[in-house]
Amino acid sequence: MSILRVENLTKTYASAGHALTVLHAVSFDLAAGDTFAIVGPSGSGKTTLLGLCAGLDRATSGSVWLSGIRLDALSEDQRAAVRNQHVGFIFQNFQLLPTLTALENVLVPLELRGQRGASHTALALLDRVGLADRAHHYPAQLSGGEQQRVSLARAFANRPAVLFADEPTGNLDPDTSERVVNLLFELNREAGTTLVLVTHDLELAALTQRTLRLRGGKVVEGQTTNAPSTLSHE
Ligand SMILES: Nc1ncnc2c1ncn2[C@@H]1O[C@H](COP(=O)(O)OP(=O)(O)O)[C@@H](O)[C@H]1O
Ligand SMILES: [Mg+2]
Repeated sequence: MSILRVENLTKTYASAGHALTVLHAVSFDLAAGDTFAIVGPSGSGKTTLLGLCAGLDRATSGSVWLSGIRLDALSEDQRAAVRNQHVGFIFQNFQLLPTLTALENVLVPLELRGQRGASHTALALLDRVGLADRAHHYPAQLSGGEQQRVSLARAFANRPAVLFADEPTGNLDPDTSERVVNLLFELNREAGTTLVLVTHDLELAALTQRTLRLRGGKVVEGQTTNAPSTLSHE
């Protein structure tokens, strides 16, 4: 069954009196558990495409089905509800809430859903990403890699059907990146989550099963099938 289906997705911005089309009829279809990379130079439309897939923004034309729900037919509030129910997000700049501790950040999506035993779940997730001893630290008291591991814990808290990651290692040094990437793929595998990863790092993209290349908002050369996702030396 398809978990994320994108059909002829086009996005046009009205900019300084003229129309600027930044995505041109993009289509793809992912099954549960697939790992997918979107690559392309800066400005090629990767973040725009991710935002449309996650229901953060609306396409000009075309359709997105997420977990069988057609997003373009929904209101803003309905899309927010779908996001909380089905989607996890990781950003390049972490986007933790600065006034909340690590634990409280991970609790946010759980509490939005009124989940029982939320503290226990959040602490277990922080432990899973190696940050049990940082639960009461604020984002400013954490390194970049630690902040991204907190955001991984937050993203997986609701056991999302699809995890979207936009340049998740873009602000990290190589060693820290490797740790975050390994955790990302491990958690993804454990939870059976579909992973949609935006990156300009081709080594990172090669860890996914398929790659979509964008240039100027257009798909360049169909979908590439990569080697099976093996991260560590298993
Ligand atoms: N809100 C907006 N209004 C007008 N143009 C935008 C807006 N958001 C993005 N763009 C343009 O869309 C293009 C694709 O942007 P983006 O999706 O952020 O690319 P990428 O993530 O690949 O770097 C860029 O040319 C960008 O300037
Ligand atoms: Mg981007």
